[in-house]
Amino acid sequence: MHILIPAAGMGKRMGASHNKLRLQLLGKPLLAWTLAAVAAAEAIEWIGVIGQPEDFPIWEAVLGDLNLRQPVQLIAGGETRQASVFNGLQALPETAEQVLIHDGARCLATPDLINRCAQALETYAGLIAAVPVKDTIKIVNREGVVVQTPARDSLWAAQTPQGFHVEPLRVAHEMAVAKGWEVTDDAALFERLGYAVHIVLGEETNLKITTPSDLPLAERILQHRREQGQG
Ligand code: CTP
Ligand code: MG
Repeated sequence: MHILIPAAGMGKRMGASHNKLRLQLLGKPLLAWTLAAVAAAEAIEWIGVIGQPEDFPIWEAVLGDLNLRQPVQLIAGGETRQASVFNGLQALPETAEQVLIHDGARCLATPDLINRCAQALETYAGLIAAVPVKDTIKIVNREGVVVQTPARDSLWAAQTPQGFHVEPLRVAHEMAVAKGWEVTDDAALFERLGYAVHIVLGEETNLKITTPSDLPLAERILQHRREQGQG
């Protein structure tokens, strides 16, 4: 299985002066944790890291330390996550028929989740890891007034990995460029074309590290796993 890791963001909501994936968790850059989890998944045979070229020397050093068994390619990202994934698709080896996409910022996903997504891709052409939402979600208008309360049992929070058959995903991305569609994940493009996107049960701890308060939380989870001999 081939996997693309979008890691070319700016981390604006984190408020750091550089890409949040360079921030340290328990003494290692955030992206190093993501890469270690991905590489520990037996299903993964090839890794594409989509980054900002100015970060490449850092990622090369991280990869040197990790010494992964899979080949790893560094790919230049774009202005948006969507543009970054588009670049990643261009760089995929021609032999790749299926691809997983996993956010660099989700450094707590386990190898088990990555393997389960890879396996489900044998059955489904489109899938996402997701968990049932715990909060009641409100739809709110611009005046700050609730307009609707969707039934909670139909609401799921999308995570990554997301997985796709490469050909329809390419078609979806090319269509998005042609029509100017902008979305925050690849599944949304797939859905627009009417392809089914299936759910793989995600993990409560699979946080997307986004704001400063996520950092101590992630460190506690990683520390706990280390103490349990799982990390
Ligand atoms: N990403 C990317 N290319 C971009 C924007 C985002 O590869 N142009 C990646 C990020 O590096 C991250 C993932 O997509 O691993 C999810 O995006 P997000 O959590 O929003 O990260 P940032 O865009 O970096 O953060 P922010 O939105 O706060 O600026
Ligand atoms: Mg972003």
